[in-house]
Amino acid sequence: MPANLKTLENIVRQAGEIALTHFNDLQHLEVTKKSPRDLVTAADVAVEKFLQQALAHEYPEYGFWGEESGKTDFQDQRWIVDPIDGTHSFSKGQYFWSISVALEIDGELILGAVFAPALNDYYCAEKNQGAFKNTKRIHVSPETELANSMIGTGFACLRDYLEENNLERFCKIAQKTTGQRRFGSAAMDMCLVADGQLDAYWEQELNLYDIAAGALIVLEAGGTVTDFKGKSGIYPKQILASNGGVLNELLPLM
Ligand code: IPD
Ligand code: CA
Ligand code: CA
Repeated sequence: MPANLKTLENIVRQAGEIALTHFNDLQHLEVTKKSPRDLVTAADVAVEKFLQQALAHEYPEYGFWGEESGKTDFQDQRWIVDPIDGTHSFSKGQYFWSISVALEIDGELILGAVFAPALNDYYCAEKNQGAFKNTKRIHVSPETELANSMIGTGFACLRDYLEENNLERFCKIAQKTTGQRRFGSAAMDMCLVADGQLDAYWEQELNLYDIAAGALIVLEAGGTVTDFKGKSGIYPKQILASNGGVLNELLPLM
């Protein structure tokens, strides 16, 4: 059976219940460090395990790539999963974190779902079928002036090891826009562009699982997904999602 948004939503919402159970009991949350810059919690592991099993049960034909467990054998047709995007926010009891699931077939994104359980906001898209937030069709903002625009960004937890960190760009963009926001979940940031709450979002050094679902949602909401030079495509090391209207003014600052 071909995968569909309704079945995916059912599974992702159940994953949200698992995440919320941990979120509502943070005192007992088991937190370990993957590296000095990277947290992993019992919630990340439990959500990913559930998603892998539930998706494999419903759709045994697809492979799986999850942030915590890695890649299964079959990767031509696969689910791409970030079980909790925004683990730092989650572990502090903040609300901006999400579960991100995308279906990619032969290099093409077909389905995307991003669920923020603490906000009860569910974003999704299917290729050529538009983007939705909680069943309502969404569109990128009509803004065309960079000076009026609100831009999202993100930083890796610690990035002093990066030769090219994003502080220079951050300062340039801050001087030319009404505001820059750092919400703490790349997947959510992409959805905020799709929903017109942000006019653009950029970040460096991400992975495909952070932005795969969000990228489809932005595109289906009428936005653009490029690298910092404006080349269309999903480039996790240099991701720039926009409403299209402010892209030309933004590119010279990147
Ligand atoms: C992080 C979030 C954050 C971004 C970081 C990512 P994680 O994902 O997307 O917004 O700024 O670079 O690593 O580690 O919480 O899954
Ligand atoms: Ca992530
Ligand atoms: Ca994660």
